[in-house]
Formats: sequence, structure tokens, C-alpha cells
Amino acid sequence: MACFFRRSVALQLAKVCGVSEDALIPLISAVPVSKKKASADLRVSVISLLRSGAAADGDLQTQTQALANQIRPDAVVEEAVAGRGVIHFRLNKLTLAQKLLGQLLSEPDGFGVNSELLRHLQGGRTLVEFSSPNIAKRFHAGHLRSTIIGNFIANLKKALGKEVIRVNYLGDWGMQFGLLGAGFERFGSQEKLRTQPLEHLFEVGRSERLVCVWTCSSCVCVCVCVQVYVRVNREADGDPSVRPAAAEFYRRLVRREAQALQLWTQFREITVLEYKRIYQRLGVDFDHYSGESAHDGQTQSVLDELRTKHLLKTTEKGTGVVDLSVTGDMSSYATLVRSDGTSLYITRDVAAALDRKQRFGFDEMIYVTDKSQTVHFQQLFHILTAMGHQWAERCHHVAFGLVQGMSTRRGEVVFLEDVLEEARSRMINNMRQSTTSKVLEDPEQTAERVGISALIIQDFKGPLMSDYKFDWDKVLQTQGDTGVFLQYTHARLCSLLRRHASEPYSCSDVSPLMDSRSVSVLQHLLRYDEVLLQSANDLQPRHLVNFLMTLSHLVASAHRELPVKGSPAATAQARLCLFSSVRSVLANGMRILGITPVEKM
Ligand code: ARG
Repeated sequence: MACFFRRSVALQLAKVCGVSEDALIPLISAVPVSKKKASADLRVSVISLLRSGAAADGDLQTQTQALANQIRPDAVVEEAVAGRGVIHFRLNKLTLAQKLLGQLLSEPDGFGVNSELLRHLQGGRTLVEFSSPNIAKRFHAGHLRSTIIGNFIANLKKALGKEVIRVNYLGDWGMQFGLLGAGFERFGSQEKLRTQPLEHLFEVGRSERLVCVWTCSSCVCVCVCVQVYVRVNREADGDPSVRPAAAEFYRRLVRREAQALQLWTQFREITVLEYKRIYQRLGVDFDHYSGESAHDGQTQSVLDELRTKHLLKTTEKGTGVVDLSVTGDMSSYATLVRSDGTSLYITRDVAAALDRKQRFGFDEMIYVTDKSQTVHFQQLFHILTAMGHQWAERCHHVAFGLVQGMSTRRGEVVFLEDVLEEARSRMINNMRQSTTSKVLEDPEQTAERVGISALIIQDFKGPLMSDYKFDWDKVLQTQGDTGVFLQYTHARLCSLLRRHASEPYSCSDVSPLMDSRSVSVLQHLLRYDEVLLQSANDLQPRHLVNFLMTLSHLVASAHRELPVKGSPAATAQARLCLFSSVRSVLANGMRILGITPVEKM
């Protein structure tokens, strides 16, 4: 609906600057609401008008003034005012309220997402690969970030009209499973595997880091790994047979030898079952669980293709590499095959990308992992492009930073389950202490939902690339820009609407909403589609988070100052209409972020 207003302004502008209405629409944006003074509703930068072909004489300010002067007020656009290099437009507030609330009441779920501004994003198929934990290991903070960020991207794309395929690409192959398998054959117990599956695998698999020494190339990583290696070796009593045993087990796996494969299948199934339980708590699900193992068998044909295309070179050490340097001097390269003929992480990724393109025919593919894998994905896209796959241009890596200090009361090492437990128990405590808490049918579930929203908002507030320090107390505050505050605002609106549920209302008379608080809320709602566009363009959730926070602050003050109870019928109805509209925008925005709104707390 914001489009109706943008179009009205564009119509006026088109007349004075000779640029088509359609070209003008994306240049017009809503003015952020200012607390101090009444602001205009829409604005356009004159530089952007000139760039699109508008012509006027004089310096920028003279041109701005001249263009603004030519705008003829009409029933929708009441005034055009020249600012510094921008033209501000004031809209008729009654029309603003009528149009916005009318649409929100008739089609709450289409608000914003069906905007003309977003139409070019509709259609097509997006594959989002996210979460992607490693089997036989427990989920850590990085996987939690990938899970919630990927879920947000998938939700957003879906809301904007794309067909979305959600893929979880498990780390279920590679030399580390050699170690795990060999370890299990020595120290493992089927009994424990049945009763305490993940704990047990984790215990046996701890020595798996040994493998890093062979595969890492970065110096820092080698140092860290060497420490682990030394420790592990000490732990294993310097047993020299560990390494060969691990390599042997992995070879058996690669050869698909029944016994080894059966053990590995067991590890995988146990882990996936555990993960699915956690995903359910987070409200996340996947269309496909795939993994590195599914593509190991395709790596040979990838290597063959690379060879035929003269892209694969054999080094003196016997490894197979692809030269990624600009000048062909091997100053940068990727190793795709080890000297013993086994594939690597990147080889499986090339195979997986080709396979996905063929199976799913995606138009774009998005990978979500922490920033330590940035180079890996650059190399992957580079190789795909070199192989002649132009669609590699439409493959993107969304990278995120590290979370520091996400420890729980139980200790330093944090697993996702512990984090969820911690969030829930802290929330339960906070709710018990709060005087405003409602009697809930299922306090545990509410606490969990609110706790998870707190984690999500904390994570989404800043640029995804930034590392951030995790602080439980800050995360769970009711005041300030937290997930708890969003949930609280939503629950309060629900409670208000419940209290007046027996009074039917329509949005036919919006004239009681001409006070500054209501107008600010309406003006802010005008921005929703722009904010969705911003988040869709850079895949950063913070634009949407900020929008919802401001919306919550504005509605909190409206709620305080604009009572429903005791007001004349027409005013009460109009206010209910406003509050119910805000509630639906809030809930829809929260859902895109991956948050389940609660109705009571
Ligand atoms: N399993 C990997 C890890 O935990 C992440 C996988 C990312 N996806 C990919 N296609 N490489 O580090």
C-alpha cells in the first residue's frame, strides 16, 4: 500500500521532470519517523532524479527548489517542500490512515510483501544451504548462527514470493570419520551408543582433531591443531597405530565396505535424529538432509571433467590442484585431490553444487557459514566458473562472525541444547519475578519461545560479519532492543485485543487517528516494504530488526497514551484497528526473522 502513495508522488514528479513514473517509484522512500518534530511522509533525493534524466537549471539547491515549486498539490500529495538536496512530500493523513489500515485489515499477510517495490524479486527458485553441522559432533555456536541466519534468509525469500529449497549439508564424510570409526572400534561400546548416543560419540570422537594436522594449511590453525595433536597423542599413550588405523578405516569407508559403512550409518542416523529434535525446538526445518558423503562418489567425474578442460594439474607431490591465480603462476590454487587419490572438502562441494543444479534447477544458491570459510567459497565459485558454469555468479556465500562468551552456568563449552535450556530457565526465572506476568497454560513453552527470540534478536542486531560478545543479562532484558521486548509488545497487543474481542470494529472511520502518536505509527508502517527490500538486497536481518524495534517503541507509547477503554466508540474502534494492524505487521515481521510470536507472557 505504501506503493499507492509512492505512485501518487511519482505521478506528480513525472509531470515536472519528464522521467517515467515507473522509473521514479524506486527513488521515493519513506522518511524515518522523528520523535522531536512532525516529519514529512515521503522523500526523494534530487541527485537521484537528475541521474534518471530529470533536468533543471542552476546548482543543486536551486534545482531542488525549482522542482519542488512545480509540484501541484492534490488530494493525496498535499505539499512538496524543498529540503537540502531532497524534496519532502506531505501526504493527506486521512488517506494515509484509510489506505494503510484498510489494506492491513483486509489482507494482513500481504502487507509489505506484495509491494510493487518487491515485485522484481518474485519468482524463481532459491536454494538455501544452512546449519550444516558435522555428524558425531555436537552443535556449536557457529552452527546455531548458521541455522538462524539461514532460516531467516529462507523465510524472507519465501515471503517475497520465491520457491525456496532448504538444504542441510551435513559434514558426514572425510578423514575424521576414519578416526571416529577406528576410535569406536577400539574404545566404543554399542551399549553406550544406544543409551547415550551423542555423549558417547563425542567422547570417542574427541581425538578426531588429530586430522587437522594433515589438512590445515594456515599456520595458526596448524599450531592450534598441533597442540591438540600433542595432547591427543599423550592421551592415546603415544599409540603409533592410531593414525594408520584411522586412515585404514576411512579407506574402508570410501570403498563402501559393509561393516565400516554400517557403523558410520549408525553414527549418522543417531546424530540426525538428535539434530531434528533441536531444530524442532528452534522452529526450523529442512526440505533435504544431504551431506558430504552423498557426493563423494561423484568426485571422480568432477576430476575427470576438470582434467578434460585442462584445469587440473598434478603437482610434484602427486596432488591434483586447480590454479586460481590471475596470471597462471599458481600463486593461488585449490587442492582437489590428495596424492592417495582421495577427495577433499572442496571437491565434494564442487560435486554437490553440480548435482544440486541438476536436481533442483535453482536460480540462485546461498551458503551460510562463518567467515572462516570465505576463501573456501570464493574458490568454489571460481572453480565452477572456470568449468564454464555461468550460474556460479548466482551462488552467494553469506558469512558471519564469531560469538564470544556464549557460556552457560554449567561451563565453558557450549552446545546448542545447553543454550536452549539456559535461555528457557533464565526466562522462567525472569517471568516468575515479574509482576506483570500472566498465568500461562504452558509457561515452559512460552519461556522457550521468548528465550529463543532473545537469542535471535541479539544475533541479528548488528552486521552479520561482526563478532560479538554474548551477554545473557543483556540478551534477556525486557527493556531495550531485545527479543523479549518484541515478544512483550506483541503479547500486550494481543491482550488488549482479547479484552475487546466482543466489540466488533472496522476501519471505516479513521478520523480519530490524526494525533501525532497514531500518525507516527502510520508513517513508520510506510517503510515496511523498503525495509524488506533492504534486507532482501544485502541478506542482513538488521534492517528488519530495527524496523520492528522502532515499531514496538512507537506502539508502546501509543498504547500508553491512547486508551481504548473509556474512549468514545468511534475513537475506541479506530484505535483497535490501529493496534490490531500493528500486531499483524509485528507478528509477520517476527516470523520472517524466525521468531514465533507469543500471545501471552
Ligand atoms: N560442515 C561444515 C562445518 O561445520 C559446514 C558446511 C558448509 N557448507 C558447505 N557446502 N561447505 O564447518
